[in-house]
Amino acid sequence: MLSFRKASLQDVTQYFEWVNNPLVRTQSFNSNNISLEEHTKWFTKAIADNSKLMLIFSNNNIDIGQVRIEISNEDIAIIDISIDEAQRGNGYASQLLQIATDEFLKINPQYKINAYIKNENAASVKSFLKAEFIIEIQSDNSSNRLLLSKKITV
Ligand SMILES: CC(C)(COP(=O)(O)OP(=O)(O)OC[C@H]1O[C@@H](n2cnc3c(N)ncnc32)[C@H](O)[C@@H]1OP(=O)(O)O)[C@@H](O)C(=O)NCCC(=O)NCCS
Repeated sequence: MLSFRKASLQDVTQYFEWVNNPLVRTQSFNSNNISLEEHTKWFTKAIADNSKLMLIFSNNNIDIGQVRIEISNEDIAIIDISIDEAQRGNGYASQLLQIATDEFLKINPQYKINAYIKNENAASVKSFLKAEFIIEIQSDNSSNRLLLSKKITV
């Protein structure tokens, strides 16, 4: 069964593996590998930061991926997702995105959640659309990125 928890210090190595996964680096706008030192510094600060919701998802006690939603200003938050390489292709991403955005918007209903995705990242775009995001800005060639967003509408 799918469950989630807030990331804690014990997850530092798991996040380090996920962040340096080759596909995760390729689909990031900064594709450089991240050192353990840099990661540990960032992670320790991030899990203590109330403006970041960092959820780690498991299925039958196996960690399958993470979603991070970071408040960027008074009405915008930015979302990021990665699925463990061994767990890809099972449609988990849309479920994780739906659960994480519900959780965030329950506490922060006034926010719009933005996702910046590379044009060629079809699995990601499809997953966000399935989780009720809409395409807000189509890509232009110079930026090679799409903006998708989700907001509570009344
Ligand atoms: C993007 C990512 C989260 C998707 O995870 P996932 O749940 O394994 O996604 P799936 O492989 O199940 O694919 C989701 C959908 O895209 C489709 N898809 C996958 N690869 C595709 C491709 N190359 N072209 C078109 N559609 C594709 C799948 O068929 C599936 O469609 P369906 O829902 O209609 O069945 C995962 O690939 C990942 O961790 N990538 C690296 C990090 C990343 O890119 N993050 C996004 C930036 S925020």
